[in-house]
Amino acid sequence: MRRTSTQEAPGYLLTFEGGEGGGKGTQIEGLVAHLQSLGYAVTQTREPGGTRIGDAVRRILLDPNHRGMDFRAEVLLYEASRAQLLREVIHPALAQGHVVVCDRFSDSTTVYQGYARGIDLEVINQLNTIATGGLRPDCTVLLDLDPVIGLQRIQKRARLDRLEGEALAFHERVRHGYRTLAAEDTERFLVIDASQPPDHIQTALRTAVVTRLCHVGLMPPGPGPDPRRPRRARPEHIRRP
Ligand code: TMP
Repeated sequence: MRRTSTQEAPGYLLTFEGGEGGGKGTQIEGLVAHLQSLGYAVTQTREPGGTRIGDAVRRILLDPNHRGMDFRAEVLLYEASRAQLLREVIHPALAQGHVVVCDRFSDSTTVYQGYARGIDLEVINQLNTIATGGLRPDCTVLLDLDPVIGLQRIQKRARLDRLEGEALAFHERVRHGYRTLAAEDTERFLVIDASQPPDHIQTALRTAVVTRLCHVGLMPPGPGPDPRRPRRARPEHIRRP
């Protein structure tokens, strides 16, 4: 079976993408719990961030007081956080055979800094390759949502971050960028209509992801021991001295 990104590593890289207010966090939480209940070893992480250095970079990137940030500075900071995450978290987890669930990855840079900010897509590709060493996700879930609805959902938050505070036109370009990438690579992308009720999305997501894992030979390993249930002692005749 063809393994796209992880090359020789036995794990599986699953990324989540989408514009603001699409409910990625909730869906990732539910999916990770489900995969763990099936016995998969899962590493959950996010971008920007996921490491001590990356979290510091995240604070710089999302601070609404940093409105004057140069677009080139912005893209390089996202790539810096990514390079650190690969080194500290993603590569080691894939090497151990984990399913790595990453909230955003290089497609976010292609879309936000490329399609929405207008940085040349070829330059973005080169920067992504420098940061990732060419690692590509095995599967990317795109939670697709009209930004008018997405922005309405996040307006309730006390404070919008630097990217969330961008104009509607910016978020329209983000959506267009994601839909273009998904149309160009239908094998990798799993596009989900994020305007559906969250439990419908979760049900569809669980089925689709487990099917894809099985497709590359990663069958559900079976549930591990339930930590709430007291372990039964081995019968006397097989107990070791
Ligand atoms: P989030 O983790 O809450 O989705 O916030 C991260 C924000 O950063 C979000 O608005 C998308 C944006 N972003 C980029 O612009 N480029 C990137 O490469 C990544 C990873 C995120």
